[in-house]
Amino acid sequence: MPTPLSDILTNSKQLFDSFFESYTKELFQPQTRITDACLYSLKAGGKRIRPIFVLNSFFHPNDLPKILNTKEHHSVYLASLAVECIHTYSLIHDDLPAMDDDDTRRGMPTCHVQFDEATAILAGDTLNSLSFYLLSLYENTDSAAIRDSIQILHRGAGMNGMILGQMEDIEEEKNPSAKGKESKLTSIHEKKTGALIEASFLLGNRLRPDWIERETVISSYAKEIGLLFQITDDILDVEGNLAELGKTPGKDAKAGKLTYPSLYGMETAKKLRDESVTKAISLVSNVTSLNNEFFLGLPKYIAERKN
Ligand code: IPE
Ligand code: IPE
Ligand code: MG
Ligand code: MG
Ligand code: MG
Repeated sequence: MPTPLSDILTNSKQLFDSFFESYTKELFQPQTRITDACLYSLKAGGKRIRPIFVLNSFFHPNDLPKILNTKEHHSVYLASLAVECIHTYSLIHDDLPAMDDDDTRRGMPTCHVQFDEATAILAGDTLNSLSFYLLSLYENTDSAAIRDSIQILHRGAGMNGMILGQMEDIEEEKNPSAKGKESKLTSIHEKKTGALIEASFLLGNRLRPDWIERETVISSYAKEIGLLFQITDDILDVEGNLAELGKTPGKDAKAGKLTYPSLYGMETAKKLRDESVTKAISLVSNVTSLNNEFFLGLPKYIAERKN
């Protein structure tokens, strides 16, 4: 019997949360202002969607409820924490006055509002380097897998991935392109959001013995999921509300950001979102090892999310 997507999401989030709870207690020691700032942002309560991607590209959804011992699969949990650390760092920096200048995140004051700008910059730096350290702690994993994992994370988060996407997003805001906006926008979204999402799927998959045969299709699927995730984020910035989003809506239009609704109008933005759902599903529907409730159900869930 296939497990419904809602159960898969709940089960995998619970697995991540219990690992997070116990592991971060020993990790963030000794307690300082910087560990306080990191934990403040990490614990503020994100959806943990990237850790969920890591776990589900490693485990089969039907096995999730049986996996109680996080020690036995230590490396995949370390990978899930690594992507959440990088992601949280990217949010802390994204919210800084020099970038998007936001004062609410995950339903709480942003890191620089709660602490101060210097502390928020340093907390982001800390979480960035910490995530690579976490990969070095993999257990029962051969050195080639550790090396590949470091490279996967760097490709997703580094100068040709998330950081370049953030750079282009800011450049476009300050100095809008006169033409070629369609490809510019797709390129920004693929990098600033898609690249780390792709890395999340690839990190989980890399720890499996059959990783090679699944890598190409997982990579294409994850790229589409990344684009879809950011199209939806753009739509929610227009249609969402503070209580559900946990961040202030309407910021993109105010800042003059290049987004799907700003470039295409809302109706077409939603049409493109729905096309992306169909495309993502079609990428995995003939792949036996990925033809399950998680991979097939996820695109629609992302398109319909409210936060
Ligand atoms: C927000 O990511 C930033 C984007 C890349 C759109 P999430 O929507 O995953 O934020 P949290 O982790 O749930 O707070
Ligand atoms: C987020 O893009 C991308 C990263 C944080 C890397 P946004 O700037 O649209 O994210 P939100 O809307 O502030 O969460
Ligand atoms: Mg931004
Ligand atoms: Mg932002
Ligand atoms: Mg946004």
